Amino acid sequence: MYLQNLTLQNFRNFSQLKIEFDPHVNIFIGKNAQGKTNLLEAIYCLALTRSQRTNNEKELIRLGSDFAILSGQAKRRHQDVVLRLTLSKQGKRAWVNQVLQPKLSKYVGQLNAVLFSPEDLALVKGAPSIRRRFLDVEFGQANPEYLYFSSKYRQVLQQRNNYLKQLQAGRSNDQLFLDVLSDQLAGQAAEVISRRLQLLQFLTEAASTAYRAISAASEELTVKYVPSVAGISKEADTDRIYEQLRQAYAKNRPQELRLGTTLVGPHRDDLHFLLDGKDARQFASQGQQRTIALSMKLAEIDLMQKVTGEFPLLLLDDVMSELDQKRQGDLLNYIHGKTQTFITTTDLSGISWEIMKQPQIFHLAAGQVSKEG
Ligand SMILES: Nc1ncnc2c1ncn2[C@@H]1O[C@H](COP(=O)(O)OP(=O)(O)OP(=O)(O)O)[C@@H](O)[C@H]1O
Ligand SMILES: [Mg+2]
Repeated sequence: MYLQNLTLQNFRNFSQLKIEFDPHVNIFIGKNAQGKTNLLEAIYCLALTRSQRTNNEKELIRLGSDFAILSGQAKRRHQDVVLRLTLSKQGKRAWVNQVLQPKLSKYVGQLNAVLFSPEDLALVKGAPSIRRRFLDVEFGQANPEYLYFSSKYRQVLQQRNNYLKQLQAGRSNDQLFLDVLSDQLAGQAAEVISRRLQLLQFLTEAASTAYRAISAASEELTVKYVPSVAGISKEADTDRIYEQLRQAYAKNRPQELRLGTTLVGPHRDDLHFLLDGKDARQFASQGQQRTIALSMKLAEIDLMQKVTGEFPLLLLDDVMSELDQKRQGDLLNYIHGKTQTFITTTDLSGISWEIMKQPQIFHLAAGQVSKEG
């Protein structure tokens, strides 16, 4: 799939903008603070209805305005879609082919996008929540059932945590209701974990292939799911995981009542990256960490292609300048012919453009975009 054009009104530092894109490679060049990241954010937001940078949607609306409009036409294998998203104090509204969608979940998935930015370096060494977010965002996009169960899980988790707090404060003493919530939570959790394990199996293989392709090195990347409930294994099915979680809740009950919170489950699970079997958090260099994170994103485009039949858009924010010439070339070769790619950079020098075969170049200055050539 690819995005043919984008129209913005009052999004970040763009008051009015209309751009036609190249189906293959689009490069945005501009000095710092001109709107390069904002433009990728707009594309990401048009696809996923939310930003990678902030949960506060007010930030996306141009200062001094009270609404923002994003729209674009996407070409997909079997049909074209016109997408439109508006942001305002009343919240978000989304249209597909001029039809207002009753739920944003009906809109997400029309256009898929994978974004890689310098912040993704934190995927390897940052807090576990960053890795869980990666799983939720990427799997949610690839698999609607995952999106459904992970949001259900969050709801029931919130309910159970609230109830644990009531018990903790002595405002209730009905432990039977806690049993009900525990069973419900174990059910949703098992759906989430079993899908994570399944999707991760493919993602791990694809990431390891990508890692080999974009690093000259010979080390082997493996990705390991680290469950908060010991003993959950790759081979376990949903029923088995459900039982394991119920047992864990039973065992943890005194502690959970004391702390007023749910101690195990998908919201406490983690991922570990290993290079030749060694934990990358301790051993990987900065460059290796960057390559691992990038490999995970490249694996994601392959996963998306596998499950939806189409490659998503690939958004690369400020990535090229961080790679040496050899790796730039390897990266461009890896994605060549697969995705429509959007690349931002402050500087064209030092980037091996020959491989790109006539990219469309845009110049950005103070929220204005001009096409080169
Ligand atoms: N809601 C908003 N309204 C108006 N301007 C905004 C808004 N949000 C951000 N900006 C402005 O957008 C400008 C550019 O942001 P952006 O992050 O896209 O820059 P950039 O071109 O990616 O720069 P860099 O090369 O440093 O990454 C900033 O100067 C910021 O003040
Ligand atoms: Mg930027």
